[in-house]
Amino acid sequence: MKKIYFITSNKGKLVEAQKKFSEIGIEVVQNNIGYPEIQADSLEEVAFFGVEHVLKNFKSPFILEDAGLFIDTLKGFPGVYSAYVFHTVGCDGVLKLMNDTKVKDRIAVFRSVFAYGKSDLKPHLFIGECKGVISIVKRGNNGFGYDPIFIPQNSDKTFAEMNISEKNSYSHRGKSLEKLIDFFKKI
Ligand code: IMP
Repeated sequence: MKKIYFITSNKGKLVEAQKKFSEIGIEVVQNNIGYPEIQADSLEEVAFFGVEHVLKNFKSPFILEDAGLFIDTLKGFPGVYSAYVFHTVGCDGVLKLMNDTKVKDRIAVFRSVFAYGKSDLKPHLFIGECKGVISIVKRGNNGFGYDPIFIPQNSDKTFAEMNISEKNSYSHRGKSLEKLIDFFKKI
């Protein structure tokens, strides 16, 4: 079985990637060396910078990912600040912000940018999006991060009420991983 390193500290992302890659017989191995997540205007810039940084010290081919939740009525917030907002106020803080201001429009989009790094290649990026709405209350115990408050389009469950395969079939990460897997099939 072939393998690819996934530079991440997030077990939730890891298991979602492992599930997808198992379909094509590739083992995804976690590596926790980390990289600076620069403050930038886009997920693409964060992922690109991450690859360039990891390439300086890590010689095997690898993938890494940056993701974010963009809420329409908050003009895309928390977006590139998703990790900071999650660690400070969490799902409850986002719900409070939306519920206190009594906004009717709860439309949001999750975005995922995977990057493939290899020493003799420039970084390749793979983007996935999932539209949906922010729930009124938290629901479900699976997944991680904002999963309990995000309901993807064409479902009435939050991501946290889904198993990994079901989440992958709707999610931003499921879609970016599909593109990454198509790329892997070609090389
Ligand atoms: P990161 O910078 O890509 O690790 O993610 C930014 C923030 O979004 C973190 O707080 C994650 O927990 C959260 N996040 C990323 N992907 C997902 C997801 O698929 N579901 C829920 N939250 C997510």
